Amino acid sequence: MAYYNISLTEIKKNVQRRAKKYRETNFFEDDFSIGIVKEVENDFGEKLTRVDGNIPISLPIEYGQRFLFISYDQTRVSHGLHKYPAKFFPELPRWLIQKYTKPDQVILDPFTGSGTSNVESMLLGRHSVGIDVDPFAKFLTKVKTTILDIEELGRSTDYILNALVKYDPSKINITELPEFPYRDNWFNKEILYELTFIKKLIKNSPFSNSIKDFLHICLSSIIRSVSNADNNCTRTVVRKKLKKNIYPSLALTKFAETLLLNSYRMTDFSSSIKQSSSVEIPDDSDARNIKYPRGYFDFALTSPPYANAVDYPRTHQLEMYWLELVNGSLAQLKKEHVGTESVSAKDYKSLHETGIYLADKTIKSIYKKDPRRAFIAYKYLVDMELNLKEVYRVLKKRGKYVIVVGNNKIRGNNFESWKYLMEISERVGFKVKEYFGSEIINHFIKVPRDERINTDWIIVLEK
Ligand SMILES: C[S@@+](CC[C@H](N)C(=O)[O-])C[C@H]1O[C@@H](n2cnc3c(N)ncnc32)[C@H](O)[C@@H]1O
Repeated sequence: MAYYNISLTEIKKNVQRRAKKYRETNFFEDDFSIGIVKEVENDFGEKLTRVDGNIPISLPIEYGQRFLFISYDQTRVSHGLHKYPAKFFPELPRWLIQKYTKPDQVILDPFTGSGTSNVESMLLGRHSVGIDVDPFAKFLTKVKTTILDIEELGRSTDYILNALVKYDPSKINITELPEFPYRDNWFNKEILYELTFIKKLIKNSPFSNSIKDFLHICLSSIIRSVSNADNNCTRTVVRKKLKKNIYPSLALTKFAETLLLNSYRMTDFSSSIKQSSSVEIPDDSDARNIKYPRGYFDFALTSPPYANAVDYPRTHQLEMYWLELVNGSLAQLKKEHVGTESVSAKDYKSLHETGIYLADKTIKSIYKKDPRRAFIAYKYLVDMELNLKEVYRVLKKRGKYVIVVGNNKIRGNNFESWKYLMEISERVGFKVKEYFGSEIINHFIKVPRDERINTDWIIVLEK
């Protein structure tokens, strides 16, 4: 007698429906068909160029022009395996890679996050390197760029689904539950047992490490939704007002659904890679210290963090505990992040200047209200200058570095990162070839209202 009455038929039917929708939303069946371009006006009467789907390689661009890109591929292939804050929409790196590189060339993303540019590089037959300091980002990128044996993937999916319906909590000993800070506040008891069961099932399953890593990412992708924390906040927080409907068996059914959908995505991905390509995710690099030789890369692209906007270690704190990527404190990890809020009081006793007029004006204005945040903003620009110097060094002569960056509000001041970064880039030796805006209409995860980022600016630099 099964402990819960989980119907695999129901789950499969549900997933079939979602998979059908997934097929339909990717209405550009032919992978690299050209999207539709037309002129539109936004709610404020401003002119925008709207591009639906794939961006034409030869799309004409004027200085400062603003685009509205509509993406259809955010959950396509391995892009859809897991949420990640401020992800690229895949059509953007796809377009930039096609525009600026040839097959077999080597591409760098120094703040690679969930590896969108690495996945697209693979689909286009390019080699790429993805650098990130975040252990979760590196693990996710690895899984998203690992081609799976489709036959083994099918077998492992069936194996796991059949084991899930036979769930029996009495087979889990309390000592097997993972230990991490405030565990019992984050998760209900039944959910803790279910998640531990899934973890054990993966560990003891007879499959390759690539399959096990993929299964761990499926597990990770349900963690937030079965926890007591808000699903839609970049910080992991439990909100008293939020009435989440968490009930026994939820982790098991959600995992089954996610596994089925993600297997479908990975099959799609694994069978889509036709040209030779490779991805390196170095363990020892940082965007400010890139351990590759001078002139190694043909092209670089990235979306760096924003100053003082997303606390990445806190975003994936529960996922990292379950995947054993950190234990206990996140303090050290936070310090390595560009844009970090972890600064010490002695650093912001006095006002610091970058030498960039507009940036210093804003930093001074922030300083009047909040010296700590003024230092965070200053340090962000110092770190970004280190990154620009490093990318300049590792790029080939005339190689391009494309940076996609938004503005944000810091203590009521508009912190226009893109303008400051353009000036810093020139100080480092780059030439600014182009810049244009991309309106953002789709955020996976909400950020506080007054700090919402509305336009991303795309800056094209040349060495
Ligand atoms: C905006 S996200 C990149 C998202 C990515 N474009 C995607 O599609 O998923 C910025 C990333 O920079 C990473 N990061 C922060 N500080 C870093 C550093 N010093 N070196 C490398 N990566 C860093 C963060 O961990 C985060 O994953």
